[in-house]
Amino acid sequence: MRVLSGIQPSGVVHLGNYLGAIRQHIELQNQADQAFYSIVDLHAITTPQEPKDLHQRTLSIAALYLALGLNPEKASLFVQSHRPEHTELTWILTTIANLGELERMTQFKEKGRSDERNQVPMGLLSYPLLMAADILIYKADRVPVGDDQVQHLELTRDLAKRFNSRFGETFPIPEPVLPKNGARIMGLDDPTKKMSKSATSENNYIALTDDPDTVTKKIKKAVTDSGSEIELSDDKPALKNLLTIFSGVTNNSMGEIVTEHQGQGYADFKANLAEAINEFLAPVQAKYNQLISDENHLLSILKQGSEQVAPIAQATLKEVKEKIGFIV
Ligand code: TYM
Repeated sequence: MRVLSGIQPSGVVHLGNYLGAIRQHIELQNQADQAFYSIVDLHAITTPQEPKDLHQRTLSIAALYLALGLNPEKASLFVQSHRPEHTELTWILTTIANLGELERMTQFKEKGRSDERNQVPMGLLSYPLLMAADILIYKADRVPVGDDQVQHLELTRDLAKRFNSRFGETFPIPEPVLPKNGARIMGLDDPTKKMSKSATSENNYIALTDDPDTVTKKIKKAVTDSGSEIELSDDKPALKNLLTIFSGVTNNSMGEIVTEHQGQGYADFKANLAEAINEFLAPVQAKYNQLISDENHLLSILKQGSEQVAPIAQATLKEVKEKIGFIV
């Protein structure tokens, strides 16, 4: 089993990224034959990025992965733009995909929402093709992601099938892997929308680098539902989201957490949740602070990751080129 996933260095890494994706990435490094995780800087530039911030965030994600338990002996962590095979395969996929299926992507419709077509970057439209290339270039079987990436995975599967039927069996059809709890963590300020790196309000998310006071303040401010009972119910989406986070950072089931808080109000529940998040984050942040101060160490891990995945990417690209009739 070969696992691949990616994360954009655009904005802060939050609890949604961790519970929806990174936690699974760390777990899967022990189960997969090979686990490849890419910091997708080429995807990040589909929205405007401050160059200095982009550079720093790329390193910051590497440090966070390591602080959260990624073992570079078991999983390869690399920067997407260090492997040119991704963009080469993307071009080939642009000739296989059609405009309609790209325009139907929810993320494109959300991010490309603009009355002025002249202001929507082409990269936003072709974004899912780069993501498909990230996956297919390694012939990955499993792709651990949060719920918001499932539609992109479906497109990837369609493209793999289309390529295979046109040019002969080449790509395995990759399967998404979603966590049972936490595939869609909602915003703390609005439980109808997902927690998001690009949210306008900082009260939307808990960043993995938020200090304890900030965490406590944000949880205190988090939107709750009417009523005061601590219970798990679809009629209480805000509380359900907080219970999902509580369960995610403690590994206790939501049922256990509800039982523990019988008869207590939201204020006590929120105080305990903030404490649980801070207990989870404290050791991660201690490791992160050490790692982020040693840029050379981080760069050497990213270089090693890129070298480990290179032979597979190069072999797939060669095979694809031969199949479509290029002289290689
Ligand atoms: P990105 O950078 O937006 O998010 C990284 C991962 O975090 C998950 N995620 C969430 N999970 C639960 N609740 C949330 N609120 C939440 N927000 C984000 C995402 O689903 C994702 O798994 N296009 C991808 C990056 C990518 C990729 C790939 C992923 C590029 N190439 C190849 C897999 C395979 C993205 O923008 O993720």
